Amino acid sequence: MRGIMDLSRQLSAVVLAAFSVAVLAQAPGADINAPYKDPGLVVETWVERLEGEGRGAFDFRHQIVAALDVQPGQSVADVGAGTGLFEPLLAARVGTQGHVYAVDIVPKFIDYIRQQAGERGLSQVTAVLGTEVSAELAPASVDMVFVCDAYHHFEDYDAMLQSIRQALRPGGRLVVFDFDRVEGKSDTFILEHIRASKAQFTREIEANGFTFDKDITPEGMPDNFMYSFLRP
Ligand SMILES: C[S@@+](CC[C@H](N)C(=O)[O-])C[C@H]1O[C@@H](n2cnc3c(N)ncnc32)[C@H](O)[C@@H]1O
Repeated sequence: MRGIMDLSRQLSAVVLAAFSVAVLAQAPGADINAPYKDPGLVVETWVERLEGEGRGAFDFRHQIVAALDVQPGQSVADVGAGTGLFEPLLAARVGTQGHVYAVDIVPKFIDYIRQQAGERGLSQVTAVLGTEVSAELAPASVDMVFVCDAYHHFEDYDAMLQSIRQALRPGGRLVVFDFDRVEGKSDTFILEHIRASKAQFTREIEANGFTFDKDITPEGMPDNFMYSFLRP
């Protein structure tokens, strides 16, 4: 009898473990950066994906950059810059007296951004290889940090937010553009890909020393939010 009880307990443990693995495998955003960590990553494929018609952040890029309200001469950082979609637009806003730091964790993206900036004569753009826990920017070096469609990719968001906070000058801004995950309403892509709602993302950002400033979401983007936060 005891043998049967032990066997039953062991079986329950195996079933539970299998269930946990299945749930973890399906958790929204699980292993979200796997495609970016692939050593075989082809930059051109990502340029097509991130800089192609039909992607909200691409189609609305001019409205998004206008909402950032960047001034000539400012230093700004684009953290999670991808293939550098926003760099020419940000460079035009800050002008030659300002600076744009394009930060990403993918070395091939950093090389590509550097090459593109060189070809376009954008000497105010610097590509920076960050890590999963740091934007690798100098303390108090930027007026604004923009995180477009990348906050939900931060695997250690507390460390990234602390690093961003350190890089911002007092009174500087953090602007996050991302998807809002609404259970029972968002489409499958968002439900499977985004781990939390905009309210949860806001709580995380505020818990790391930022204060909510304003909602600057461009008109016509019902699945996204664009929030500005202040670094006191
Ligand atoms: C969906 S792409 C967005 C790229 C770009 N912002 C855009 O909108 O075109 C997300 C990017 O975040 C980057 N990323 C993920 N974690 C990061 C981190 N901790 N620091 C910097 N970049 C990160 C990825 O490598 C990827 O390039």
